[in-house]
Amino acid sequence: MDQNKFTRAEAWLRYADDLGLGPYYRDRAAPQPAERLSSGAPPEISAPAPTSSPAVAAAAPPRSSAPPLAPKSAAVPVFVPPTTGASLFEEHIEGDTLDRIRTDIGPNCTRCKLHKARTNIVFGVGNPKAQLVFVGEGPGRDEDEQGEPFVGRAGKLLTQMIEAMGLRRSDVYICNVVKCRPPENRLPEKDEIATCSPFLFRQLGVIRPKVICCLGSCSAQTMLNTNQGISRFRGEWFDYRGSKLIATYHPAYLLRNPPAKSEVWKDLQKIMAVLGLEPKKR
Ligand code: URA
Repeated sequence: MDQNKFTRAEAWLRYADDLGLGPYYRDRAAPQPAERLSSGAPPEISAPAPTSSPAVAAAAPPRSSAPPLAPKSAAVPVFVPPTTGASLFEEHIEGDTLDRIRTDIGPNCTRCKLHKARTNIVFGVGNPKAQLVFVGEGPGRDEDEQGEPFVGRAGKLLTQMIEAMGLRRSDVYICNVVKCRPPENRLPEKDEIATCSPFLFRQLGVIRPKVICCLGSCSAQTMLNTNQGISRFRGEWFDYRGSKLIATYHPAYLLRNPPAKSEVWKDLQKIMAVLGLEPKKR
């Protein structure tokens, strides 16, 4: 397939994924029982463990006894976030800090193939004591050039979203599942996510925010260890090691599909309710 066709096909797959159709074209490995929270107000929540690799399993929260995810529509098979058993690995690094994580990544990381085309490692930015962390997918071209997450078009929209919530960008922390730009903005691949996501889990372990907001499928699927399309669980609350976790659509998706902004605003309002925020006055 030539590059253009490939890029178009990938855009369609992303779109299908955003619509929750992912399981039809993805790996159909047998779904396992899922755990999630009730929707709406801050709930008794419990989330599946992020364990796409032994390293990822290192950040796995314990199993919970929350009920399985209920089908939203009888016509559509529901794939639920699988859970895994407790990790064999240490789940918390004593005395960990963001600086230490940055140092551990190193200035010239070559752990995965994304290093080949990157300009800068995009570690994360913002308040190290943030109550709210946004987790995106991976750097794009602007982010790769500037070494900062969400500074391109999607980033500007994210900044507007943050400000609409009555916050400044510097109040929150922003990072990604993978720290290096996937070529042509393709989706990060499984091995790249498995290699890089433990650093994300460590970042979250250090910040311990009240709320984690996953932006888009890649982030949500990585954090919840599921292949399920994001629209099946978008706006639901999960527990991630004591933080409340919610997934919403990626700002880049909103640029392609502005009507979805109203759904995202509903999700942001749920976060605002948890954090006691008032919307920005116009
Ligand atoms: N999209 C992402 O997921 N992350 C960024 O940093 C920029 C765009």
